[in-house]
Amino acid sequence: MARNARETRPVIALDFPSRQEAISFLEQFSPAERLFVKVGMELFYREGPEIIQQIKSLGHSIFLDLKLHDIPNTVKFAMCRLANLGVDMVNVHAAGGIEMMEAARLGLVEGVGKGQPSPKLLAVTQLTSTSEENMQKEQLISVSLEESVVNYAQNAQKAGLDGVVCSAFEVGKIKAATSQEFICLTPGIRLEGARLEDQKRVVTPKMAQKLKSDYIVVGRPVTRSVDPVKIYQKIKEEWMKMDND
Ligand code: C5P
Repeated sequence: MARNARETRPVIALDFPSRQEAISFLEQFSPAERLFVKVGMELFYREGPEIIQQIKSLGHSIFLDLKLHDIPNTVKFAMCRLANLGVDMVNVHAAGGIEMMEAARLGLVEGVGKGQPSPKLLAVTQLTSTSEENMQKEQLISVSLEESVVNYAQNAQKAGLDGVVCSAFEVGKIKAATSQEFICLTPGIRLEGARLEDQKRVVTPKMAQKLKSDYIVVGRPVTRSVDPVKIYQKIKEEWMKMDND
């Protein structure tokens, strides 16, 4: 049975250095295919809001992954601007604190205008590039990495956010500590036997489904494939397959 928030389309990480490359990639799909893409700092800082307008005009949904982290007032007004772009999902660092996350939510609501649905707002907990050892040494956080991640997820929930970006392996603990509806968006997805690149703890789309991820993010397995459309469909099928079980 499908759960509340689960997104049927894998989110494609559009990690390209320029508009031209990103658009050529998208043009390989049928014009009727509505994708969900993630635009990160690299592409957005180079191309600006125009790249968002262009992707939107093709009918795709957008997760704008800029990971905001600043004082509440600055984040609030930055979120106002992002909401105005008409994206579907944005994010902040949970390390910015509950007040900052509340301000982000407020900025989004104000930015979209009355009666309009505001973009979903997620929090990044601990970056996957942070090891437990580094977290304890550099951030002086003495609990385990997992406890820190769950704590950040609970803060995000308190601030009224929709969910977090996390590893598929953390979904169970996060949902148990927040709620089953709290969105867990999980990168680090690979088909069985695929190259890991720099990802360390990967799961297959099927495993992500079993672990109760709500959204999966896939980048290089699709964007660097010789046949992106075929690989995307394969990942999507595997991600959705268990729905009818
Ligand atoms: O190419 P790949 O599938 O590894 O890309 C995953 C995407 O998810 C990239 O855009 C990467 O920056 C992002 N990401 C991640 N791990 C996190 C957060 C984001 O891989 N913890």
